[in-house]
Amino acid sequence: MIQTVTVALEGRPYAVMIGRGLIEDAARHVTPLLKRPVTTVVMDRTVAELHGERLLAALRQGGIAAHPVIVPPGEATKSFEGLADLCDQLLGLGLERSDRIIAFGGGVVGDLAGFAASIFKRGIDFIQIPTTLLAQVDSSVGGKTAIDTPRGKNLIGAFHQPRLVLADLAVLDTLPDREMVCGYAEVIKYGLLGDAAFFEGLEANVGRVLGREDAALAWAVRRCVEMKAQIVGEDEREGGRRALLNLGHTFGHAVEALTGFGEALKHGEAVGLGCAQAFRFSARLDLCSGQDAVRAERAIQAAGLPTRLSAIAGHPFRADDLIAAMAQDKKAEGGALTLVLTRGMGEAFVARGVDPAPLRRFLIDEGALP
Ligand code: NAD
Ligand code: GLY
Repeated sequence: MIQTVTVALEGRPYAVMIGRGLIEDAARHVTPLLKRPVTTVVMDRTVAELHGERLLAALRQGGIAAHPVIVPPGEATKSFEGLADLCDQLLGLGLERSDRIIAFGGGVVGDLAGFAASIFKRGIDFIQIPTTLLAQVDSSVGGKTAIDTPRGKNLIGAFHQPRLVLADLAVLDTLPDREMVCGYAEVIKYGLLGDAAFFEGLEANVGRVLGREDAALAWAVRRCVEMKAQIVGEDEREGGRRALLNLGHTFGHAVEALTGFGEALKHGEAVGLGCAQAFRFSARLDLCSGQDAVRAERAIQAAGLPTRLSAIAGHPFRADDLIAAMAQDKKAEGGALTLVLTRGMGEAFVARGVDPAPLRRFLIDEGALP
């Protein structure tokens, strides 16, 4: 069964379709968006080898001339060099301004190809076909596109909404377990930030979602996409409410930065740890109960995600280094810390101008060095 969620942006609504078999049926969904039957599929080598031929064949059988562009897998591709190389390949293919490109991959390809689309010939439309759980529940929806620089992640980018998102759950069958768990960190984030009933469902169904059982996966992806669509529909450019989607990200970003954004700690793992810390810090400030913090931690742990600094290679970290890295996060405003904190399950809020002194004491109690 295919489910559709609409991102209701004024004048630019688009559908996020969720289910199995969307790749085989891609031509039918993509054709109405094309001005001429030509497109380019951007994918990394891993996705190209596993699923590329299937998508290209489906598009070609539907009468679309589909040209592959293959980029190296991994975060390093989200760079100025990666962007220049991709734009050069798109130019070499003779793409016109009215053509659309397809980003077929995880968040790296979605962010890179989406950003390239935002600037290619002053902007062309694009379609997202996300292939990781993280991309299906988060990065393919909402129009944030970006590359990294040596000064930080996602610092150069644009808001550029896709015209369509096809989340084919079947591609997740080949996703390594660690990537599945990383995507799950974003799934649990949605429950924690805004839907206590969904969180409760995840507590009961973590094994079924991570085990890729059809019904559980479809339920989880759909609920996340619904929540993201609603938030983005209300606050496309993150003037307010959209910042809630950063629950766990500022705490997590700090540890990611200190571990070098590498394989030692993947983004989703940092988000899991960050969500647990955001709940514990909120409990410390008496914003939520200690019981809520324990419950959040148990649910994050149940997925195999880290919840304590002591579990991270490179620990002990210094509290001041963590706070300095938090202040580097692009959510910081006027040098003051902005954190997403919570009043309980599903009741996150954006706390601006957070006092670093209690945060420092908290981090030391969490095991950081003074
Ligand atoms: P990714 O794109 O690097 O994919 C992870 C790995 O899985 C890669 O090695 C990839 O080749 C492989 N892979 C992808 N699909 C596969 C499949 N179906 N089967 C087997 N292997 C597969 O990483 P990601 O976790 O999807 O995305 C992380 C990126 O997303 C980061 O750059 C992050 O900044 C970005 N992000 C963006 C947003 C946004 O709103 N734009 C939100 C969250 C994260
Ligand atoms: N991943 C956070 C956002 O899209 O706003």
